[in-house]
Amino acid sequence: MKLSHSNVRRLHPALASVLKSVGVVLTVTLLAACERPPMESVQHGYRGTGMVQIYNPRTVELNADKNIVPVALPPADDGGPKASAVFQNVKVLGDLSVGQFTRVMTAMTTWVAPKEGCVHCHNPANFADESKYTKQVSRKMIEMTQHINKDWQQHVGSTGVTCYTCHRGQNVPSDIWTKLNPPPYGANFIGDKAGQNEPSKTVGLASLPVDPFTPFLLGNEPIRVNGTTALPSGNRQSIKQAEATYSLMTHISTSLGVNCTYCHTTQSFSSWKGNPPQRLTAWHGIRMARDLNVNYMETLVEAFPAHRKGAMGDVAKLNCATCHQGAYKPLNGAPMAQDFTELGGLAKVLASNVPKQQ
Ligand code: HEC
Ligand code: HEC
Ligand code: HEC
Ligand code: HEC
Repeated sequence: MKLSHSNVRRLHPALASVLKSVGVVLTVTLLAACERPPMESVQHGYRGTGMVQIYNPRTVELNADKNIVPVALPPADDGGPKASAVFQNVKVLGDLSVGQFTRVMTAMTTWVAPKEGCVHCHNPANFADESKYTKQVSRKMIEMTQHINKDWQQHVGSTGVTCYTCHRGQNVPSDIWTKLNPPPYGANFIGDKAGQNEPSKTVGLASLPVDPFTPFLLGNEPIRVNGTTALPSGNRQSIKQAEATYSLMTHISTSLGVNCTYCHTTQSFSSWKGNPPQRLTAWHGIRMARDLNVNYMETLVEAFPAHRKGAMGDVAKLNCATCHQGAYKPLNGAPMAQDFTELGGLAKVLASNVPKQQ
């Protein structure tokens, strides 16, 4: 019997009501993951490109608290003896005055260990003691923060970063990653899944490869996947490779809280024509994240105790979300590094510092 409208109506009333309630349950389940209207849209990109950003004002409001910046301590005097002359074991902050040094220690405590205090990194009986791994990791973290602020201005501009950008008052930043065990790539007895079909928030619960970080933010695998020649001989690209790229792009979009059209015109994902400057900032961001993971995080593998390492024995690493945490600019662009030139932040240009023209 074919189910047409007329013979559905003729079904037994009990069966019809069961069918109806199944329908209601299905609809509710389908819509459960949807966000309720109203949404807001803002024009972005060059005129006529239709690159509209869609925001959920309720999510933006929920995230507002996360982006409040702690009040900076008043600047310290740079005069008097240097930290290197007064303390025993200073290797990176030795050039600061004792006042500046103490101000940085106090700020670092509120950014990284507000509950634990100085003892999070120090043996209270001897501050020069090096036995806590957190102190050794922090020394590298200070160098990393200075490196970001000084050498990655193509990405962080004069906004810069402090420990708070990533840590937000927590010992460990909320968005970090380690290598998966078993490794998601490579064949096992059920074949090579290429890291797919593992429900993970990293890839928006889609069936894309779950780990876009090892190949792109640690390794240097090619991200561009659009073939530039028609014939296979010169075209090395594959659908499998494209899936990995989409997985990285999903991470980028969710980390920044933006749609794909924040950086791309959908006419062509490969073309840079008509793309807003944010795409170039993102390009530098990918290279920066790679540099930080390889040259700072991975070098700490000896310093971290075993229980702080990942399933593959590696150190936790950073990605776009570690700093951005859902905002297009971390902390909505608050330039808190300006108050911490000790950590490589660019000094505020004060009107009083600008030479007067005669
Ligand atoms: C998040 C880790 C961390 C916290 C918290 C921290 N420190 Fe430090 N501290 C360090 C590091 C790293 C050094 C070494 C800096 C260097 O090598 O230039 C250091 C060095 C010092 C030294 C120099 C000791 C010496 O003789 O070599 C003093 C003094 C000091 N800290 C005081 C404090 C005080 C006071 C607090 C709490 C208000 C504090 N620190 C909180 C990481 C920390
Ligand atoms: C770009 C992001 C970023 C910045 C900036 C940053 N950190 Fe970290 N930090 C990380 C990541 C990622 C880890 C590794 C997480 C883990 O410990 O598993 C980490 C780990 C640490 C740890 C070890 C935590 C533990 O309990 O195992 C300490 C201590 C620390 N950072 C201190 C600092 C200090 C002090 C600063 C500023 C001078 C700073 N960090 C700046 C990303 C950052
Ligand atoms: C914040 C900026 C940004 C966002 C948002 C973004 N992308 Fe990208 N995308 C880039 C950059 C930068 C590259 C080039 C990367 C490189 O070459 O290292 C790229 C490359 C690509 C490529 C490869 C193009 C080629 O030349 O083969 C595809 C496909 C792509 N993106 C799709 C997407 C999709 C789909 C989304 C949304 C889920 C998205 N992107 C979101 C910045 C972005
Ligand atoms: C070390 C912290 C840090 C990491 C990691 C980081 N960013 Fe950023 N990003 C920043 C800061 C700070 C700014 C603000 C720069 C400014 O104000 O000019 C920014 C700005 C941007 C912007 C420009 C936004 C705008 O509207 O102008 C884009 C796009 C961006 N980041 C993409 C990325 C991507 C993609 C990644 C990961 C591959 C990433 N970022 C990783 C700190 C970071």
